[in-house]
Amino acid sequence: MSSGIRTPVTVLGLGLMGSAIAKTFLAAGHPTTVWNRTAAKADALVEIGAKDAASVTEAVGAAPLIVVSLLDDDAVAKVLSAAGPALRGKVLVNLTSSTPEQSRARAEWADVHGVSYVDGAVMAVPQGLGTPDALLLYSGSESGYRTAEPALKALSEKGTYLGADHGRAAAFDAALVSVFWLSLFGVSMGIALAEAEGIRGSELVPFTPALIGLMPGLMAQTAAQVEADHYPADDTTISSAYEAFTTLRTIFAHHGIDTGVLDASGDVFRRALDSGYGADGLGRLVPVLGGGR
Ligand SMILES: NC(=O)c1ccc[n+]([C@@H]2O[C@H](COP(=O)([O-])OP(=O)(O)OC[C@H]3O[C@@H](n4cnc5c(N)ncnc54)[C@H](OP(=O)(O)O)[C@@H]3O)[C@@H](O)[C@H]2O)c1
Repeated sequence: MSSGIRTPVTVLGLGLMGSAIAKTFLAAGHPTTVWNRTAAKADALVEIGAKDAASVTEAVGAAPLIVVSLLDDDAVAKVLSAAGPALRGKVLVNLTSSTPEQSRARAEWADVHGVSYVDGAVMAVPQGLGTPDALLLYSGSESGYRTAEPALKALSEKGTYLGADHGRAAAFDAALVSVFWLSLFGVSMGIALAEAEGIRGSELVPFTPALIGLMPGLMAQTAAQVEADHYPADDTTISSAYEAFTTLRTIFAHHGIDTGVLDASGDVFRRALDSGYGADGLGRLVPVLGGGR
């Protein structure tokens, strides 16, 4: 799989993400073999040059690099056990979302079966693969990653290897995606409030970059406070933030908008205040949540 040679690749799983992965490999010139439980999902890829394998074993035998994108770890276990000894000596890159513990257990399984195992996390939507915005994170077998790297660059030029712990990519994924999931509710609530106030959600859109632009700084400041276990109130205190937060809750409640998400956050603020951390900076919320070392 040296640079300049288009490595043959097999993709197991042709859901929305797996199909996009196979399509991106094909577009980059990789001979691509595909397999999916529901065989008809291979048809569109065969039309653009993929080879459809009749079984998992046949698919795995067709390439030195196997990329997996299935619903969850249970599906991965079922599909890989069907491949049997055909996997021995292969580089396996599993892009299925998993917990760090599932990734580490999968690595132990791979070790027993003679497979170079790389666990990956796709921090992109299917349409983003192969574009400059796509980010994929990998961890596990370094030699496996270095072997697969030239081909994996087709999916993301920004693909990053995070180290030998197979669970590390999944841990980065969960930590970063938690920001996304909670922001999703922020977006939903913001638009709900705007509409209740007679403002179209679209009127908010031009102002969102200013807010989202604060996030990297907040992440860096919070991380630095937790690493130093020191929580100075450089820009705001927990007490004053809680006052602003309470006003926000009042506005939502006035419009009859569900305050459940805010109330859960309010509980964390109150635990911090009850513990005497009112004069601290917001980084203090991390240990109050049970985080830190
Ligand atoms: N879509 C995204 O935006 C996105 C973004 C980042 C990460 N991901 C991750 O990528 C992975 C795939 O997501 P997706 O969006 O492609 O999901 P999806 O469209 O629901 O596809 C699921 C795939 O898993 C297969 N599958 C499910 N159960 C199976 C089983 N028991 N045995 C064999 N195959 C089974 C399905 O086969 P059938 O076709 O036969 O049902 C299909 O190929 C997930 O882990 C997801 O978290 C997705």
